Amino acid sequence: MYLLSTVVASLAVFFLLKWMKKRRYCTDVKRLDGKTVLITGGSSGIGKETAVALAMRGARVVIACRDADRAEKAVREIKSRSRNLAVVCMELDLANLRSVRNFCKSFLQKEKRLDILINNAAMPAILDWTDDGFSMCLGVNHLGHFLLTNLLLGRLKECAPSRVVTLTCSSYKYQKLDFQDLNYNLLPFFTYCRSKLANVYFSHELGRLTQGKGVTSYAVHPGFVQSEWTCHYSFLFRAVMRVLMWMFSVSCEAGAQTVVYCAVSDEAAIHGGGYFVDCRAATLRPFARDAGVAKKLWEASERLVKLA
Ligand SMILES: NC(=O)c1ccc[n+]([C@@H]2O[C@H](COP(=O)([O-])OP(=O)(O)OC[C@H]3O[C@@H](n4cnc5c(N)ncnc54)[C@H](OP(=O)(O)O)[C@@H]3O)[C@@H](O)[C@H]2O)c1
Repeated sequence: MYLLSTVVASLAVFFLLKWMKKRRYCTDVKRLDGKTVLITGGSSGIGKETAVALAMRGARVVIACRDADRAEKAVREIKSRSRNLAVVCMELDLANLRSVRNFCKSFLQKEKRLDILINNAAMPAILDWTDDGFSMCLGVNHLGHFLLTNLLLGRLKECAPSRVVTLTCSSYKYQKLDFQDLNYNLLPFFTYCRSKLANVYFSHELGRLTQGKGVTSYAVHPGFVQSEWTCHYSFLFRAVMRVLMWMFSVSCEAGAQTVVYCAVSDEAAIHGGGYFVDCRAATLRPFARDAGVAKKLWEASERLVKLA
């Protein structure tokens, strides 16, 4: 009897976890021949899987990465898995605004098109500073992408209809922005949450500013994904996360699905942007939909990256 109840309980937990981890896959089969996709941080995790999926659809894929060796290795893997040789890497360090400017100059010289920009790269919850003196999370996750997108916006408009997909995280909801201290760098998790909230406001304001200009903007929460973000942490933390990930997280391929959906699907385009989870439009908390705050953050970001 004891054995039977243990087996039943184990099976119940197994199927419950399987059900919790179930993810919708992007079913839109649209090809991307002749289109160019730029993915930041495409050398690992969700970014690499997104690159494989979009290269399989025939797109020319540029991955923008800070580590040349890792990037070259990823390019070889993406080419071989997608059977598409039009995959290249370019150097970009989002923690350094000069690197972002140099990257954009070089990208605009080398690449004629930009149809889909995927703002994927991010630093997880750690306390550090960028070369420009911003907190690492705000600098890489928001400001680097803010400058990048603005410098490439002209090309996106020329190639319209084009899309910008920005990876955020459902943890955006645990914090609010403090405009007196945008560079908040005290509690690692909250620093990350604020940068991901900034991604939400950025995506929203970008969509508003480009309305009617052929560029649509999507914010995506990919789910809890078994990627490589834990490499920034201690052995003990990685061991605990490994167990949690085994129980609750999904693969990078599954995590990339909503990104791919927003990059290609007509259904996503009907919404003309917004917030997406699990291959469908989702609702943000009311404070994250505040257009006034989104505009204020846009203007503050322009000043911080010296665009204004
Ligand atoms: N994994 C999850 O459960 C989860 C949940 C919610 C949201 N997200 C979001 O999903 C996105 C992808 O994350 P992931 O899970 O795939 O993480 P990941 O495996 O750690 O990948 C992050 C990528 O960002 C790159 N990166 C970090 N700092 C950079 C910099 N200064 N300049 C250029 N590239 C830089 C990394 O490059 P290196 O290889 O050189 O470090 C790496 O390729 C992130 O925006 C993350 O916030 C993930």
